[in-house]
Amino acid sequence: MTASIQDRKLTGPYCGYHQNWEGESLRELTEVGAGTPSGELLRRYWHPIHIADEVGDLPKLIRILGEELVLFRDLSGNYGLVHKKCPHRRASLEFGRCEQHGIRCCYHGWVFDIDGTVLEIPGEPQGSEHVRHAMEHIHLGAYPVREFRGLLFAYLGPPEEIPAFPLYDTYEIPDLVMTPYAVPFNCNWIQVLDAIVDPVHTAFLHESQFSDGFGKLGAIEFYHRDKIRFLGTASRRVGENIWVRVNELILPNFTQAGAAFACDGTQLRHFGRSAFTRWVVPLDDRHTMAFAWGNFGDRADPHEFNTLEGMQRIEQGEVLDRSYEERQRRPGDVEAVEGMGSIADQEKEFLLPGDKGVSLYRRQLRQLARNLEKGQAPPQPADLGTEFVPTYGSDTVLHRPETSEFDDHQLLRETGDRVMNILFDCDEGPAPERDHRIISQLQQLG
Ligand code: FES
Ligand SMILES: [Fe+2]
Repeated sequence: MTASIQDRKLTGPYCGYHQNWEGESLRELTEVGAGTPSGELLRRYWHPIHIADEVGDLPKLIRILGEELVLFRDLSGNYGLVHKKCPHRRASLEFGRCEQHGIRCCYHGWVFDIDGTVLEIPGEPQGSEHVRHAMEHIHLGAYPVREFRGLLFAYLGPPEEIPAFPLYDTYEIPDLVMTPYAVPFNCNWIQVLDAIVDPVHTAFLHESQFSDGFGKLGAIEFYHRDKIRFLGTASRRVGENIWVRVNELILPNFTQAGAAFACDGTQLRHFGRSAFTRWVVPLDDRHTMAFAWGNFGDRADPHEFNTLEGMQRIEQGEVLDRSYEERQRRPGDVEAVEGMGSIADQEKEFLLPGDKGVSLYRRQLRQLARNLEKGQAPPQPADLGTEFVPTYGSDTVLHRPETSEFDDHQLLRETGDRVMNILFDCDEGPAPERDHRIISQLQQLG
């Protein structure tokens, strides 16, 4: 990169002419199809693929990790996720019919169970050698699906490597209402994912959308914990308080942060939890879906935001359906990341210390993909805890007035570190106990 800058004389006043070269994306990370490094890595994890309620009596053609797939619910209520094309003569199963068990192809009526087993071949004499042979030897490509709290999750990897379905501590928070949502991005998944470990962007892009406190840069810190967990903290001064907001990424694509609306740093708060529990799921190289639950209740955002518009604002800072002029005047995350193009040319980026979270997680993602190519199975979120995975995305607001002895930036930094040490020290034990321990230790801080 440095060499190419020098070779091409890219800097200097009015150097537009010299910068007219095509930059590449980080293809090892951006490509998600089968057989690509990241595509294979992603295929070793469960991903949300749809909102359960939005699957009706008709099959749905969907795209996940570059694969065209058909999602359906059979009349017994079981979900199937199968390759689009029928193994007989390639008709699309999106035009199929849901049966008591499985799906019937529209063309010659073959029936397939949710695991791809051929159940019926009605167009040939039953019991014939051809039918018996076909039923034994043909399988429609299928993937396991699991419904959890209104989201459908699928695993698209080798069936002999299915990982445990991770259960996060967020699911254990009492009285938390979790409402599924899906927000599309017309661009590659990496540029969407980057934002979660980028606490600097919050101070600029989201300054006017949430509260004044968001507009402060504060002290930024990054943590790389375990092999797959990345945290970015922003500790900001709001009057006599210090607000420590923790953004969280668990590789490859699980994200949480603090609240969007419940916290502005003016009221004390101890381990308030994330506005969303969210996955950044690549549909293909140029399209991404943020599948999530919006989290509502005392520990997350107020119930009044539990609406379609509220969840779009939680996800984006703004509602989605806006004119071009509105988007220019008040851009949200979607404008920032789609504006980079459908696949960003990261080769032309210039990263600074505030981008450390981005470079850290990208490096580890690349490493895990390379390890997998060499046969090393990737670490799983379910391995991060025994009964549940402890997570850290949160807001804590402590009473910490500025003092004359200390440089305030130093105080912000120290306070952020102390909060994180409490969170890290409380990993063990059942989720509700951990929660109480964290809250009471934070309350002792202020
Ligand atoms: S193409 Fe599907 S049954 Fe013939
Ligand atoms: Fe953002």
